[in-house]
Amino acid sequence: MSKTAELKIDGKTYTLPIIEGSENEQAFDVSKLRGDTSVITLDPGFKNTGSTKSAITFLDGEKGILRYRGYSIEELAEKSSFIEVAYLLIYGNLPNPEELQAFQNDIKYHTLVHEDIKKILEGFPSNAHPMGVLSSLVTSLTAFYPESLDPNRSSEAVNMSIIRIIAKMPTFAAWAYKNEVGHPVNYPDNKLDYCSNFLKMMFALPAADYDADPVIANALDKLLILHADHEQNCSTSTVRIVGSSQASLYASISAGINALWGPLHGGANSAVIEMLENIKKDGGDTKKWMAKAKDKEDPFRLMGFGHRVYKNFDPRAKIIKKAADEVLDKLGVKDPVLDIAKGLEYEALNDEYFVERKLYPNVDFYSGIIYRALGIPVDMFTVMFALGRLPGWIAQWKEMRENREPIGRPRQIYVGENVRPYTPVDKR
Ligand code: CMC
Repeated sequence: MSKTAELKIDGKTYTLPIIEGSENEQAFDVSKLRGDTSVITLDPGFKNTGSTKSAITFLDGEKGILRYRGYSIEELAEKSSFIEVAYLLIYGNLPNPEELQAFQNDIKYHTLVHEDIKKILEGFPSNAHPMGVLSSLVTSLTAFYPESLDPNRSSEAVNMSIIRIIAKMPTFAAWAYKNEVGHPVNYPDNKLDYCSNFLKMMFALPAADYDADPVIANALDKLLILHADHEQNCSTSTVRIVGSSQASLYASISAGINALWGPLHGGANSAVIEMLENIKKDGGDTKKWMAKAKDKEDPFRLMGFGHRVYKNFDPRAKIIKKAADEVLDKLGVKDPVLDIAKGLEYEALNDEYFVERKLYPNVDFYSGIIYRALGIPVDMFTVMFALGRLPGWIAQWKEMRENREPIGRPRQIYVGENVRPYTPVDKR
């Protein structure tokens, strides 16, 4: 017999079905509650509310587990490629060699963007933040591919939108950077793999040879895998909710990019480096900054620490920390902020405030240090996150569409004025 929960309101008992997931996660289903009563559930920030049933990513924050479609993040980061992971997330299974080849070829075929997009890019001042440029260029795809506006078109048409955005995102990301530094843009080189092509578009200068260092391209590929999906986080929920109105894939992804931008979400990776730099400039006294983070009167938070769902180590942070050591070693880079980061981590892990609240380093604590070693400028860190998260957003959007989920529309408890008479303003 399936499990149920009971809820008593004003002496009346309501029976609610319990939904169980494939990893034995449980939820009681309140979706019919409002039909039977006038009571709703209230949960600001959705701290304990499931918005969907999803078969894409499993994470157990208590145990520090993260899996994409059943594969552990540790194994994927070690053995697979970002493009393979993108296929896995979007289509549900790892590709066979033919499927992988076809997917790669399709992506390479669509890397070029319409020349008129350059005119849009040229309209941005050079101090435009690359995240704003990226989200605008992604939205602009709706103008160049108007057939993408209707997500109810054939699955072939939807798939074409998916291929196009995966193919063009590195071009947009690199061009957003070129706009910032005022250099001419580079066109895609389809002989190269996904990351080497992106690095070439970012860093190649006119009349100079550029070959991406394989150490850098591989490290970037691994970072993108680690960021590829993370179930119903702020930006992914944004993508799903925008898409639930039947807005196009490009409009939904663009909204996700904007949601990712904030410092409590994807923007944390650049905020971490800024914080470490400030600590260094201030003399490197990590104890002083720990005290600030704990002081409730001080708005400062230790960036890169804490997570809504991980109440144990973020498994991605463990992989990144190890990768940071390896990459810095291979590239022969000595970054003084790495020592500050390790010092802060050591202190936080031994500090009652952080231990009690289960605040551990998250994925962004060490990712900025690697990005910096790879030569990626700080403003571009969150763009890198967006590049990595793209397949997750696509997979979640596609799942939401295929499940025919209803439009997302939370309720509220109104706490404003009761009805009152209108008094005209005396205009004398
Ligand atoms: N530094 C100091 N105190 C903290 C921190 C921090 N980084 N994070 C949480 N706390 C405290 C917070 O003040 C609160 O204390 P109290 O119970 O005394 O009021 C308690 O821990 C719980 O915090 P919360 O804000 O209620 O937790 P949340 O689940 O709403 O927020 C978070 C999660 C990630 C927004 C938060 O931990 C934070 O602001 N971290 C810093 C920003 C950051 O690194 N973000 C990247 C997240 S990982 C990348 C991604 O997936 O987006």
